[in-house]
Amino acid sequence: MNAIMLVHGFPFDHQMWRHQLPALKWRCVAPDLPGAGATRGLPSTDEYSVAAYATSLITTLDSLEIEQTVCCGLSMGGYIVFELVRRYPERVRAAVLCNTKAEADTAEARRGRDALAARAQTEGMAAVATELVNRVLAHVTLEQRPDVVREVTEMILRQPVPGIVGALRALRERPDSTPLLATIRVPVLVIAGDDDQIAPAAGMEEMARSIPGAQFVLIRDAGHLAPLEQPRAFNDALNEFL
Ligand code: MLT
Repeated sequence: MNAIMLVHGFPFDHQMWRHQLPALKWRCVAPDLPGAGATRGLPSTDEYSVAAYATSLITTLDSLEIEQTVCCGLSMGGYIVFELVRRYPERVRAAVLCNTKAEADTAEARRGRDALAARAQTEGMAAVATELVNRVLAHVTLEQRPDVVREVTEMILRQPVPGIVGALRALRERPDSTPLLATIRVPVLVIAGDDDQIAPAAGMEEMARSIPGAQFVLIRDAGHLAPLEQPRAFNDALNEFL
């Protein structure tokens, strides 16, 4: 059966795909990455990397005997999809890149990762939620959708601190995927939110132009979490692509 693997972003778990799981036409595989949600973390935070995440996803696919799948990742999930394309191209039937970017962290962004990891360790996940909720949601979501604000806040609060510190290391150390873009030979859909502060739509459109044949879809009234903020428009775009 045709399968699609949904790879969540940071600092979330597979529940960020809860509107997609019942709505997509294909078999969905939506794991929690190591150290997120209910999945056991890696033995040490130093072991986290986009490569380690990619390898864990391949292990999941192997255990389900799925040879090839559409790989759909949001933000950090997109960085991991790039890694899957780089390391395991034979397992990737097509790619969906949501609210993500190809560039590595700047020096300033890396300092921000370290500061957030330190806050998570000293103050816990409440500090992470305070720092991120306003950045990951569109202004219209923040103003008019208290249910989504609450859901996203609760999802952040339930993440284990060691997994979050590890994820920040993986984000900080991820490679620049810009050189990969022109070499991608599978069908690609790029989905952006028109009010995404972290992966702005203009940059995503440019990224799509660098990938041969890629399609680009802009979701209105969506921030960095388009699948949760505008599930119907997101699902329509994804089902159409599938
Ligand atoms: C995510 O949603 O995965 C993060 O925003 C990624 C990042 O901070 O680069």
